[in-house]
Amino acid sequence: MSKNIDVELRNIQKRFGSNVVVDNFNIQIEQGECVSFLGPSGCGKTTTLNMIAGFLEPDQGELLIKGKRMNGVPSNKRELGMVFQTYSLFPHMTIFENVAYGLKLRKVPKSEMTARVNKVLELVKLPHVAERYPKQLSGGQRQRIAIARALVTEPTLLLLDEPLSNLDAKLREELRDEMKRLQQEIGVTTIFVTHDQEEALYMSNRIVVLDHGKVEQIGTPWDIYNRPASEFVHTFIGKSNRMLGVIEKVDDSGLRLRSDAGIQLFGDLRNKVGPGTSVSIYVRPEKITLHRENRGTSGVNRVNGTVKQTSFLGAYTECEVEVGKYSIMVRMQSTQQESALASGQEVYLEWKPEDVFVFPREGQGS
Ligand SMILES: Nc1ncnc2c1ncn2[C@@H]1O[C@H](COP(=O)(O)OP(=O)(O)O)[C@@H](O)[C@H]1O
Ligand SMILES: [Mg+2]
Repeated sequence: MSKNIDVELRNIQKRFGSNVVVDNFNIQIEQGECVSFLGPSGCGKTTTLNMIAGFLEPDQGELLIKGKRMNGVPSNKRELGMVFQTYSLFPHMTIFENVAYGLKLRKVPKSEMTARVNKVLELVKLPHVAERYPKQLSGGQRQRIAIARALVTEPTLLLLDEPLSNLDAKLREELRDEMKRLQQEIGVTTIFVTHDQEEALYMSNRIVVLDHGKVEQIGTPWDIYNRPASEFVHTFIGKSNRMLGVIEKVDDSGLRLRSDAGIQLFGDLRNKVGPGTSVSIYVRPEKITLHRENRGTSGVNRVNGTVKQTSFLGAYTECEVEVGKYSIMVRMQSTQQESALASGQEVYLEWKPEDVFVFPREGQGS
């Protein structure tokens, strides 16, 4: 079965002066896919999107849309729909006119135009605001109209640059649900730029993690979270506890590690590191089980410590536990009992070797 590739980046590079802000970007995006570009502010997400949109030309590399080379092709010839962080609606036009704008430019006949505008307004669940002006809508509604305007021309590709960043938390979640539903319903190929890891996990078929203009990893949300290609990816996505240590032994049963707090730990062979390597050792807060009673220390990855503080966060409770020189964060589902955990109380922590992530430390080979 051959895949339909809607977008392809081949060795795309962009410099501003001597500053390389996008380096060697390669990806093929399939028809109907939603791919997120995720990374901290300044990592090159918008610059890459602007090259795909035709607002910027790459210094090197090739860009293809539907198999056609797009380098040098003006933006309005690329069949795109775009939504940005700030609402870019025309203030002096009604919502209907705003949404109709792209169709008017394309000289779509009036009756067809009306039908199509009404259809996308239905799609974003705002059919009743057609005669209003942008300033009469809430931020969330304006952003939905921006999405409607981007979709009305039935673009090959939908480009979204942090479209939710200006909304408050509750609205952000609502619109996120809505966008996912729309994206799947219409099946439009989408590139979604965000610095918010949860948004990326939620929205995407695949995520591209970027750091300083370099692609760190491309993978499904599951891959990115559970099989991070680098320490950067692991720590950027979700919380994780870090300890330093050294690999003592590698055999068929896995890795034996010694942390610099003197604790013996075990990892599995997914981590490709040899004996003697100095490493960063990670375990995520939700992978640790906390016990009140001593279960012995003979099992794997069992340590004891004292409770420093607990924080009730509704659905879950976080507990900070002092283990030697480290402060280990444990996240558990809230039950009736967490409130009974007192500061200074001795507790016992346990986690599985498969939940241990190990990365060689800077300047150390693997
Ligand atoms: N027009 C420009 N001239 C010079 N530097 C720029 C320009 N646009 C962006 N940059 C720089 O390129 C890097 C990437 O920027 P950008 O793509 O906007 O990052 P992101 O969208 O991931 O926050 C940043 O260091 C930024 O300062
Ligand atoms: Mg940006």
